[in-house]
Amino acid sequence: MTSFPAVLEAIADLQKNQIDDLLSKAQKFKQNAPTFKYAPLVATCFLENSTRTKNSFVVAAKRLHAAYLNFDAQTSSLQKGEDLTETFLTLHAQGVNLGIIRSSVSGLLHPYKEHPPFKIINGGDGMHAHPTQALLDLFTMLETGFNPQGKTIAIIGDNLHSRVAHSLIPLLTMYGAQIILCGPEGCLPEVSPHPRVALEPSLDKALAAADLYYLLRVQKERHRKFGQSQYFADYHLTHGLSLKKLQAKNLLKPVYHPGPANIGVEIDLDLIKSPLYQGYQQVAHSIYLRMALIHTMLATEWESVWP
Ligand code: CP
Repeated sequence: MTSFPAVLEAIADLQKNQIDDLLSKAQKFKQNAPTFKYAPLVATCFLENSTRTKNSFVVAAKRLHAAYLNFDAQTSSLQKGEDLTETFLTLHAQGVNLGIIRSSVSGLLHPYKEHPPFKIINGGDGMHAHPTQALLDLFTMLETGFNPQGKTIAIIGDNLHSRVAHSLIPLLTMYGAQIILCGPEGCLPEVSPHPRVALEPSLDKALAAADLYYLLRVQKERHRKFGQSQYFADYHLTHGLSLKKLQAKNLLKPVYHPGPANIGVEIDLDLIKSPLYQGYQQVAHSIYLRMALIHTMLATEWESVWP
């Protein structure tokens, strides 16, 4: 009997009896599939770069002992022009139960809400929403003893274009906070999006009124046309925060930042190194929040594995 080839390069490498055996084995795998206990399969599908969100979801999925698939858009057939819906349906056919999807396109996920190819968590879409960032921020606040009920939170930066701000506002107002949106020209909406949200261009006034400062990343990709270095220098002067500045005003409040931070633009290193800075707490707490979310969304799938 001919042994199975060590390198399968072409059909010519196989004997017919070997092919018959393969087909028969594949049929047995298919027949027995419903009785196998597979852990649910979580896929990350990041069409835009990420360090915190993607890795945090991966760690969360692995801590829950889910199976994990890293869909790499750069090496995928999307690069050959494949449609995204085709990609999702293909991932579904490969067994994906839950996809974490990030994209630079606002509203990319809207069309999938009616007939989702699998369960989906938005990992950030353009300027629209970053719901898990807002949820992990709220979780961090509560876990570190800051209950937003009745408190004032200043969200400082490009509120107009920030998906983080667009998710924080409905969540924190739902939990009873007053919000001040603060930022330089071109970074604030024309009208307040909520009765408990005030617009305040002056950093000094926002700092004085708030109990917690939430800094947004200055999005370099959105300011190319203004001449970046002058824009950043001006931003640092008018709306950048440093420990020195807060000490001089005697306003030592917790400072949140979703990351990645532009050091020397919206925040200085002295503040990041200070106990006021909660950025690493946010990252640490993100794992637990995302574990809870994955566990909740895959409850049925898990039940069939571990009844
Ligand atoms: N906060 C956040 O979404 O960071 P990443 O872009 O690194 O995921």
